[in-house]
Amino acid sequence: MSALAELRAAPGLDVYLEELEERLEAAVASHRGVVAEVGAEALQAGGKRLRPLLVFLATAPGEPPNVAAAAAVELVHMATLVHDDLIDGATFRRGRVSAWQAFGPAAARAAGDYLFARAFAQLAATGDARAVSTLAGAALCLARGEALQRSQTHDPDTTIDAYLDRCALKTGKLFEAACLLGGGHLGAFGLHLGIAFQIVDDVLDCSGETIETGKVAGTDLREGTPTLPLLLAARQDAVVRRALAGGPLDGALVRVAATDALDRSRDLALEYALRARACLNGAPRREELEALTDAVVNRES
Ligand code: IPE
Ligand code: IPE
Ligand code: MG
Ligand code: MG
Repeated sequence: MSALAELRAAPGLDVYLEELEERLEAAVASHRGVVAEVGAEALQAGGKRLRPLLVFLATAPGEPPNVAAAAAVELVHMATLVHDDLIDGATFRRGRVSAWQAFGPAAARAAGDYLFARAFAQLAATGDARAVSTLAGAALCLARGEALQRSQTHDPDTTIDAYLDRCALKTGKLFEAACLLGGGHLGAFGLHLGIAFQIVDDVLDCSGETIETGKVAGTDLREGTPTLPLLLAARQDAVVRRALAGGPLDGALVRVAATDALDRSRDLALEYALRARACLNGAPRREELEALTDAVVNRES
């Protein structure tokens, strides 16, 4: 994400991100044991820290950025990743062996719960009940999104609308929360950007390189998760359709790439990015937020 690298030059961002890392480390290390070990490992593996960046960019210039809120959002995100890899049977995350693979499913489950708890402790300590409520709402949506995904598994007739609902719930709402916690009025921006982000993630699951994404491609097809590129390809190719429905996977991913499904998916991601941009009228950091929408759509990682 080279456009993201440029954004990182924003004044005050370096100090903010350093403070964020310190907070995350402290939050994860607060209780000794295997859950802290899993958390520390996930932290060290890095990640784009995109949601904390949103908190920062949604803060009015001149106002102090809410590092506690940023840490809370990133911890919720990390918790969902630890649980998500267990659910998806994903073996790699952030270029490393995923938590459940390294420490076992029970440890991963416990570590996810621990990270959720640490997230809410961060925010509760600020005394801002509204912020706690915003994050709690997003966490509920995440769980609803995962449940919706489960109900859509192996269903190649999942509608595009139902897919987009899932993207809003499992990804958009946490982006929205990050923006709201930044203190601005950019919730709708965050929601649309999050949907664009998830569509691109779903494209990268079909065509991305592990060296860039830190994940193994093909997980969605293997798990029968009907993502936009898979749904569009399944409409054109019976082999893809059968694979998505739970049939043999052999060669199906190559066939997805041979359709126009990846391009059409990127087009829809772009459309959501444009919708996000349309929410930026009068936003103090408009240029940087616009650059972020470009980075999200054009990313390879
Ligand atoms: C991955 O999120 C999960 C999705 C919502 C698609 P990121 O791509 O932001 O993960 P990290 O934090 O950079 O590893
Ligand atoms: C996003 O979906 C998961 C969450 C929002 C927790 P994915 O399952 O596609 O995310 P990755 O690809 O594993 O990062
Ligand atoms: Mg996953
Ligand atoms: Mg994915």
